[in-house]
Amino acid sequence: MPSMLNTTVSRLRCPRRKKPQSLCGGMLKLSTKETGSAPLEIRSGRLVCEKCNAEFPILAGVAVLVHDVRNYLISHVKGVMQAVPEAELPRDHLRDLLTARSELQVEHIEEDLESARVTALYLMNHYLRVEKTETTSGSSSFERWWSPRTGEGSPLIDSLVREHWDRGPFAQIKTWVREIAGRTGSRQSVVELGCGVGGLYGELKTELSSYLGVDSSFASIALGRHLALGVPYSGKILIPEDLLQGPVTRELTGLAATSLDGTADFVVGDLEAPPVEAGQSDLVLALNAIDMLEDPSVLPQIQNLLLRKGGTAIQSCPYIWHEAVASQLRKILPREIRDSAAAAEWLSEKAGLKVMKRVNHLPWLFFKHVRQLEIYSVHLFAATKT
Ligand SMILES: C[S@@+](CC[C@H](N)C(=O)[O-])C[C@H]1O[C@@H](n2cnc3c(N)ncnc32)[C@H](O)[C@@H]1O
Ligand SMILES: [Zn+2]
Repeated sequence: MPSMLNTTVSRLRCPRRKKPQSLCGGMLKLSTKETGSAPLEIRSGRLVCEKCNAEFPILAGVAVLVHDVRNYLISHVKGVMQAVPEAELPRDHLRDLLTARSELQVEHIEEDLESARVTALYLMNHYLRVEKTETTSGSSSFERWWSPRTGEGSPLIDSLVREHWDRGPFAQIKTWVREIAGRTGSRQSVVELGCGVGGLYGELKTELSSYLGVDSSFASIALGRHLALGVPYSGKILIPEDLLQGPVTRELTGLAATSLDGTADFVVGDLEAPPVEAGQSDLVLALNAIDMLEDPSVLPQIQNLLLRKGGTAIQSCPYIWHEAVASQLRKILPREIRDSAAAAEWLSEKAGLKVMKRVNHLPWLFFKHVRQLEIYSVHLFAATKT
């Protein structure tokens, strides 16, 4: 049966861990009552491993491809229950999910990747552009989204946004991917690890033959599928403005993609056990994820595993290490490696990737509200599987 998810299913693999370092890797089969002509968005059903019979649910269009589904759903209950109607939740986990939801605290933690405020910041970073805003000004709902609707705006924020917003990692990666596609004469098959709300896909679309985004945040994947693929979404698209009015009060309309071609999809998964076929991708992207891992050396190893020979791994990061992670990392680095950028490149080389290109400091802006703009400086590099 052809379907939107069916077009993706052949690239997916079972993420069940057999031993800590070894995944089942079996092919997955789609089981759903939904029918229609391709590309079709499957809203609910299951993916079943043909090798070990493990089952993975599809909830509100999101395939949950993790080793321990029950544990995942409970620890990500906020994002799951925001996007999935209660009637569609798996019966066998329902009671635990409702209990977990009743124990949720009022949102205040900025790092909570299932929270509406954090996903809103990424949504802006991934989908809003200054140039697009200025050219569609007047007719769009996102007219000058960085300026307050009432009261005076900040001249400094205005000038920083205008100068740097459109020239961050996405723009640089687009240039590199165009060069690769031009050189090889072919469109690229891409996996993005820790893709968040998925905005990079839209930037690269014209150069790609296929794209699969994997992230552990249910809220981000549900939102990303709506914005990048144009599939239905139950919530409103809200971003912060003046916090006196509430955390996210400016509604955006007209941002979501309007066509669904079946070559791209986003799934929930763990980048350390990616539900993807090994050795097949031309390009494996991982932006701003390495400093979130307990063992950062795993990321380039996974990129290497997923790439075909000659394929390219792209990574970026502002390296906001937890001290526990940094101290472990210091123990394994050679004496001459003394900064984070050199450390990440060294880890990549050790994993079998040859660093070909880099930008050492690239501004990456986060708009937090009309009186707060965060500036990160990320290191971005591209490495080839030798
Ligand atoms: C700092 S955000 C970056 C998001 C996006 N790549 C970007 O650069 O805007 C890190 C992302 O990695 C995801 N993430 C963290 N650990 C992960 C894991 N083990 N598996 C999959 N995704 C993970 C988070 O949910 C989050 O979306
Ligand atoms: Zn399996």
